[in-house]
Amino acid sequence: MTRKLFVTTALPYANAPFHVGHMMEYIQADIWVRTQRMQGHEVHFVCADDAHGAPIMIAAEKAGKTPQQFVAEIAAGRQQYLDGFQISFDNWHSTDGPENHQLAQDIYRALRKEGLIFVREIEQFFDPVKSMFLPDRYIKGECPKCGAKDQYGDSCEVCGAVYSPTELKNPYSALSGATPVLKKSEHHFFQLSSPRCIEFLQAWTNTPGRLQPEVLNKIKEWFTTDEDGAGGLADWDISRDAPYFGIEIPDAPGKYFYVWLDAPIGYLASLKNYFGKKRLDFDAFMDDPKVEQVHFIGKDITYFHTLFWPAMLHFSGRKVPNHVFVHGFLTVNGGEKMSKSRGTGISPLKYLELGLNPEWLRYYLAAKLNAKVEDVDFTPEDFMARVNSDLVGKYINIASRAAGFIAKRFGGRLTDAIAADGDALLLGLRAASAEVQRLYNERDYGKALREIMLLADRVNEYVDQNKPWELAKQPDSDARLQDVCSVCIEAFRLLTIYLKPVLPALAAKVEAFLQVAPLKFADADARLGAHAIGAYQHLMQRVDAKLLDALFEPPAAAAASAATASIEVDLPGGEALAQTITIEDFAKIDLRIARIVNAEHVEGSDKLLRLTLDVGEGRHRNVFSGIKSAYAPADLIGKLTVMVANLAPRKMKFGVSEGMVLAASHANEKAHPGIYVLEPVPGAQAGMRVR
Ligand code: 2FM
Ligand code: ZN
Repeated sequence: MTRKLFVTTALPYANAPFHVGHMMEYIQADIWVRTQRMQGHEVHFVCADDAHGAPIMIAAEKAGKTPQQFVAEIAAGRQQYLDGFQISFDNWHSTDGPENHQLAQDIYRALRKEGLIFVREIEQFFDPVKSMFLPDRYIKGECPKCGAKDQYGDSCEVCGAVYSPTELKNPYSALSGATPVLKKSEHHFFQLSSPRCIEFLQAWTNTPGRLQPEVLNKIKEWFTTDEDGAGGLADWDISRDAPYFGIEIPDAPGKYFYVWLDAPIGYLASLKNYFGKKRLDFDAFMDDPKVEQVHFIGKDITYFHTLFWPAMLHFSGRKVPNHVFVHGFLTVNGGEKMSKSRGTGISPLKYLELGLNPEWLRYYLAAKLNAKVEDVDFTPEDFMARVNSDLVGKYINIASRAAGFIAKRFGGRLTDAIAADGDALLLGLRAASAEVQRLYNERDYGKALREIMLLADRVNEYVDQNKPWELAKQPDSDARLQDVCSVCIEAFRLLTIYLKPVLPALAAKVEAFLQVAPLKFADADARLGAHAIGAYQHLMQRVDAKLLDALFEPPAAAAASAATASIEVDLPGGEALAQTITIEDFAKIDLRIARIVNAEHVEGSDKLLRLTLDVGEGRHRNVFSGIKSAYAPADLIGKLTVMVANLAPRKMKFGVSEGMVLAASHANEKAHPGIYVLEPVPGAQAGMRVR
């Protein structure tokens, strides 16, 4: 029976590029999704940016941007990671899209109609220095449940408890350090504590097969009340006061949905957006009882996905999630918390830029993943060993050992005349298909790969027993050589099917080499037979330890080694040339001739001059430039120069800077002082583009 699946990964906050933890989750989900697709099921796999909330609002303000601009810039950087690691999302959207505004308001209205929303005046922390209500994440203190220090105001990263910030012990404002004061305000609540909710959630969570056992145990703790009736599920504060970047609450001016209310609704919004583009019927799909809704998430956001989210969906009359699959965190080198400065973090972009094969990481993470909520540890040595000994040494080798003979001796043709030993081997390999699929379906990827590598061992034993390189030298052994090599190629095809959810790009290369249609699991049931294959080209390199070292080299060490004197003399201007860009990249930078209308000192700054520039727009620009050490203001007034005219405005201590003036200097300014502002050859006019 074909399944109809709606699969998501957690929506990442749109305030930073992806880190390797995101990639692990996407890879985990992607392997599952590809498995389902290869089994012939219908899958819609979507994600989106989680755009709202106070932290993003505050970060955007700091960057001198609107929140919309800010999240759009983050969104623009997403695709290179997704393509790079072959994550096969059908759609990527944003929780700030119109679909989400509509859906969030609809769901809220439905919950209100159900009588599950109430309004209550609460006292909330207010930062007396910053004069604003403090978002949960900007209040820190000790966890009310376990006492862990420096926990955020919404949930504890140590024990997983979720609470309100006023429950924190010894709170302080993370914005100003001030002790926050309590101030009254009306808030909207979702009545999670109502008996109806509890009854529903008991049933939903306890449905067999829905949640992992350890997740269910955690939830049981959350349900439990002590003898005094304390603990248990608490009502959920779903509103925030303006100023807030979020979705307005209907009929409540100045109130916005708390980001965690509209974030999971973003799953539906992304699907709806995708269905809109595909002209498919979103409502019909979501009303179809056959459709299974599956969420992949990290362990830190279990509460939101197993309590609030199913309750919101159920009581607004919608389909509830069928599965919430929870994974642990990714650690590096024996559980060290990842840190960029110490160089133990793995930057996914650096990984790609260094030319490390993305499928090595997919394979490695898959080899370490199982269906439990365990953390996964990345160590470089282990990475090298698994990829080089298993993936390349056991699997890739099979093809490289056999393909040459088939090409050179048999014109690329495989034979159907297989002897009993080869038949038995292939039968065994084929029989493993069901178990491999089961393990992938159960997200037991590590075990699936171990099974597959055991199969590869069997094939390599067969090769060692039959020694095609010796058969090739013996007279009258042509038929046997073709038999043995055909068995190897067929075995390689079967192993490729089994590895394809993890290694999709490699599988595509193999499909081209074997001259077969895109492989599905059903293809394991039939044999290739007397088939012509293409020329073999090397499919995958071994991991080079130097590349891994470079991946782990902390940025500071890289900079330090580049700064040694012997290197410096060789480098033009004291620094290496930047990475190559395309003409399209360059075209993004709008350089204009600017007339310096005015220049003056900036009180309190020993570096900056305040320039007033005219680029022929009918207005003047204010630009701060760090050239005070090189120029007296009077020498600059009236001159032409070149400015970056489309740089986002930047808020600085002394005001907003609306662009940047181009100037030359040596990388080591102390040893080679001098700053030289660019000036065009006479004849150029203010406003002309520099290209
Ligand atoms: O923890 C996070 O990164 C959240 N942005 C996850 C949201 S998942 C879903 F609810 F949108
Ligand atoms: Zn705690």
